[in-house]
Amino acid sequence: MTENFREKIWHGADYNPEQWLETPSILEEDLRLMRLSHLSSASIGIFSWAMLEPHEGEFHFEWLDSVIENLSKNEQKFVLATPSGAKPHWMALRYPEIRRVTSGGQREAQKARHNHCPTSPLYREKVAIIDEKLARRYGNHPALLAWHISNEFGGDCHCDLCFGAFQNWLRERYNDDLDTLNRNYWSRFWSHSYSSWEEINFIDAPVHGLDLDWRRFMTHQTVDFMNHEIAAIRPHSQVPATTNMMGDFTGLDYAQFAPHLDFICWDAYPQWGNGDFLGDESEVGLWAAFHHDMFRSMKGLPFWLMECSPAQTNWRPVSKLKAPGVHRLSALQTLAHGGDAVMYFQWRQSRGSSEKFHGAVVSHQGNENTRVFGEVSVLGSELEDLSALAGARTAARVAVIYDFENLWAIYDEQGPRNEGKNPEKTSRDFYKPFWKRGISVDVVPSTADFSPYQLIVAPMLYMLRPGVAEQLTEWVRAGGTLVTTYWSGLADENDLCFLGGFPGPLREVLGIWVEETDALHPHQTNSVHIEDPTLQMEGAFEARDYCDLIHTETAHILATYEKDFYAGRAAVTVNKFGAGRAFYIAARLETSFQDQFLAHLSADLQLPSALNTQLPAGVVAQKREGNGFEWVFVSNFNGSQQSFTTSQSGFERLENRAWSPLDTSATQILTPYDTAILRRAL
Ligand code: GLA
Ligand code: ZN
Repeated sequence: MTENFREKIWHGADYNPEQWLETPSILEEDLRLMRLSHLSSASIGIFSWAMLEPHEGEFHFEWLDSVIENLSKNEQKFVLATPSGAKPHWMALRYPEIRRVTSGGQREAQKARHNHCPTSPLYREKVAIIDEKLARRYGNHPALLAWHISNEFGGDCHCDLCFGAFQNWLRERYNDDLDTLNRNYWSRFWSHSYSSWEEINFIDAPVHGLDLDWRRFMTHQTVDFMNHEIAAIRPHSQVPATTNMMGDFTGLDYAQFAPHLDFICWDAYPQWGNGDFLGDESEVGLWAAFHHDMFRSMKGLPFWLMECSPAQTNWRPVSKLKAPGVHRLSALQTLAHGGDAVMYFQWRQSRGSSEKFHGAVVSHQGNENTRVFGEVSVLGSELEDLSALAGARTAARVAVIYDFENLWAIYDEQGPRNEGKNPEKTSRDFYKPFWKRGISVDVVPSTADFSPYQLIVAPMLYMLRPGVAEQLTEWVRAGGTLVTTYWSGLADENDLCFLGGFPGPLREVLGIWVEETDALHPHQTNSVHIEDPTLQMEGAFEARDYCDLIHTETAHILATYEKDFYAGRAAVTVNKFGAGRAFYIAARLETSFQDQFLAHLSADLQLPSALNTQLPAGVVAQKREGNGFEWVFVSNFNGSQQSFTTSQSGFERLENRAWSPLDTSATQILTPYDTAILRRAL
């Protein structure tokens, strides 16, 4: 595999020159502006199929040849996409099978994009032909940095081909034994038993086991499609392959994609705006941090930010501008969490069609005299000064479990709460105390290897996939500290409830059993009173939404409910188990509980913070290590000036394109949305 993709911090953009071929002056201007903005890479070909193969079997690469030649002469590397994210009209009309079928059984019309059938042999054949041609022609080009496989894989198809493949997948999963499938799906309920595999040709959402298998299958089929594309390229090119994943998208289990990719990248579109959206209580910086960490953790290696907007998006009900400095803040946050590239959607605003008002480096105005272009260019020069950061790692001793299969099961189940379940937000609430304190966190699926971690937080771990409870139990026995919550340990991988008391196979390690779960109306609260002084917390914390009614077995009570008929009963417990301990938080408590509780645990476990100093609210530090340095990014998420000092010696700060020694006695100023970039020799 070629390794030049690890050579520096890339500054790139999706580039669509095919929209401007009739205007050579614009293409020329692009090159000048790319140099000016310190753009080091352009991602091309993402939606170019109709230009590459305007009629079946008739290929035109000349225009792409000249784009690539011009970019290379101009010193931009390129990321080359396979064009399968959008299919040409002629193909969709001639071969209806490549178009998706909805869950209602209707063949979709050819429109928009990202809507091919992942199973269709015909589509796979067409894709392999174009991919192979691209790979033969450009696969060994010295300026080719990476393959961008398709675009934002997602969605499912309910066509006969997909159901045929699903049935085969199920036969393999269940060793051709329909009885096992029926038992796992609990299918006698409402008379949903299957008497032949062929009957499984629609998705019956209340059959939770079936729905889970369908989502697993669609993930499998999409990964298989992606691998089919990679296989078409590989004989002709040893350049790394990736695909751009989406933040907040949980329709496919991204964890299954990771092993097949050479590196991970993702597209981030949080609602950056102005001061109203940032600051310590804001969810925007937190959301981005959590996702950066999740995508980094997928391979435990630096990732790329393949897309972000340097300005607005255009697909929200309301799209705020990124206020001055906010783009730099978001870009450097990417680096802080393990990113090795900041790339944009898009280089130049398209003139027509649906994304014409989406933010871009070059606006319709067309030259460098815009605020956004100016900010992008300054950032570009700064990224050049950070080349030595490329490849630096993040070492986390804390993991937050965030498991897509578990999320699917929580969405499916109909239980005490059918609204306001919020497992994603709950995970971020448990992540936030670490983020605020500069403690590195990996965000991992429940099947990850837990051995690198001292502390694992597993909020709402409703579904216990095979081996998870066993691994957690052994890991605690060996000295790990586990924190889990209400609505954990209820069901197995088929969404069949554990019998004999929740939290099922976690009962022993937690030393409790959960008899009932109360759901509170939005206007109702309970409160939970701290009983044990060793927690170093005082008073009471508000409980909402979920309150488990638990019995302690071997666990010790740390806090109790104050209200309702379960007043006085355990609400927070700890179980000493082997060399470790396992905490159970029985109710959804106000976030100040998590904050104090996890701060206490972090201190107790001596978890290292990126910078050993008290930072102002809304200022966070993150650390990476590599190439002989410890790199610390101190970011001010506030729209107001902040400052900090550090007593740690040996740091330098990057300012005005030069590293200058950081004086431990001096106050470091952070202007609004500023990030101080520090490093010191390891
Ligand atoms: C996605 C797509 C891009 C573009 C952007 C707009 O990330 O991959 O092609 O549509 O959204 O935000
Ligand atoms: Zn299909």
